[in-house]
Amino acid sequence: MIVVGNWKAYVESTEKAKKLFAAAKRLTTKPDIEIVIAPSSPYLGLLAAGNRSKVAFAAQDLSLSTGGAATGEITAGMVSELGATYAILGHSERRAMGETDEMISEKTRHALANKLIPIVCIGEKERDQDARYLSVLRAQIAAVYTPLSQKERMQTIIAYEPIWAIGKTAAEAITPADLGEMVLYIRKVLTEYLPGRGSEKARLIYGGSIEPANARNLASGTGVDGFLIGHASVDSDTFTNLVKALY
Ligand code: PGA
Repeated sequence: MIVVGNWKAYVESTEKAKKLFAAAKRLTTKPDIEIVIAPSSPYLGLLAAGNRSKVAFAAQDLSLSTGGAATGEITAGMVSELGATYAILGHSERRAMGETDEMISEKTRHALANKLIPIVCIGEKERDQDARYLSVLRAQIAAVYTPLSQKERMQTIIAYEPIWAIGKTAAEAITPADLGEMVLYIRKVLTEYLPGRGSEKARLIYGGSIEPANARNLASGTGVDGFLIGHASVDSDTFTNLVKALY
């Protein structure tokens, strides 16, 4: 199981960043739970460089640029060199700012070229009666997977994050039954791209209002390999309780 704490832009103090990192380190005692934190770039630089712990780092986004004259851009090469091993790509908050499937596909290839494991977010805005949202997910997967080799597809983590379930509370999150169904659907789409048992083995995680109250139920029996946590990852007690609920 992999648990990724996406700090978004919630953390704006070095003291808080260090406190959250210290709490994350204390959660690395279970070998079957990998803890990944995704601080914003300044704190990623501060914490990942010199990291000797088992906590892994993710970038929250990557530039389309590969360096050179590109003021303000943070490239895959930079974050990889700093010690990140993952990159969250295509988060709905980035898509809302104009990021397209094509851009996410290109960023995924930049990540892989720099030895970063892409965590590619997909998710529908809403659920319509005619189940058109399923084709939205299918198209998002196709855009990312199509140009990749089989090996690269296996390395890439898909994060299913329905937009309607982001930033709410556990009570308003997806139900375990619905999540189980979505995992089956997404893995079925993956069979079109991965031979043999690849679609079962590919890592598929869920994000959207995971809190200590619902983490366990959403983990058991739904077929997910982990979680992408937003607001519950920026309070050390809440994040600790959430991860411990998975023990
Ligand atoms: P949330 O965010 O846990 O605050 O819903 C999840 C995400 O956007 O990755």
